[in-house]
Amino acid sequence: MHRDDALLRAFYSDPPADISLDDIDLSRIPSHVSIIMDGNGRWAQARGLDRSQGHVAGVDSLRETVTTSVRLGLDVLSVYAFSTENWRRPKREVDLLMHLFATTLLKELPLFHQENVRLRFFGDLSALPEKTFKVFQQGLDETAHHTGMTFALAVNYGSRAEITRACAELAREVAQGRLTADAITDELVAEHLYTNGLPDPELLIRTSGELRLSNYLLWQLAYTEFYVTDTLWPDFDRWEMLRAMRAFQRRNRRFGGVVSA
Ligand code: FPP
Repeated sequence: MHRDDALLRAFYSDPPADISLDDIDLSRIPSHVSIIMDGNGRWAQARGLDRSQGHVAGVDSLRETVTTSVRLGLDVLSVYAFSTENWRRPKREVDLLMHLFATTLLKELPLFHQENVRLRFFGDLSALPEKTFKVFQQGLDETAHHTGMTFALAVNYGSRAEITRACAELAREVAQGRLTADAITDELVAEHLYTNGLPDPELLIRTSGELRLSNYLLWQLAYTEFYVTDTLWPDFDRWEMLRAMRAFQRRNRRFGGVVSA
């Protein structure tokens, strides 16, 4: 947890009527928040714009959310940027998204340096266009030494594929005699997931009101609190994040037991 309280207070000055930083217990900020960023298309259509304009606007929300997360002192912010199912979208939209991922990441590298943010990706990156893949690799290399928040992007990610891949790897190790079936534990399975080394999210936020997981982090979300807001992703801002924190802090997390965690 890295937090500068003076910077945080300045960032959260001028609050709207319904929420302020005083509503939040800063000693109980979740360490990992994950976000399903949804509603870019509807945001654009409601304004008579092309869907792609919604994605472009979504980049601004993402930038603000990265800064917000650093200010709040999160250890990990993860976002669902592109699912294995998203390839089914029109080619034009897929191309735009791949282009946007690459250009945005390059453009935001100074922000990641300034805020000491370390990049991470999870998903099957081998299927990405070469340019996008190269920029991701550059982002990883240039931020590897950063010690602040981890910003993890799920790209070409699907949870079932991830779990299936882990099963296949473990089966291979058993077949090769390097592992016995009885030695397979929860922890070992987790080590074979793309998210190996990341803590499980404590809070999952989904924008645009949809009540589904969309093949996202099915294993990792076992005990995660969910927060769904009707706000469309391009309208998600620092105050929305604070509302999510307030909802999280009102929950009574029991992890299957009876005492409050
Ligand atoms: C969901 O909205 C959003 C996406 C599939 C892409 C997320 C991408 C961004 C926020 C842009 C930038 C991201 C990075 C990592 C630079 P939707 O298109 O499903 O919206 P709809 O449900 O209204 O159609």
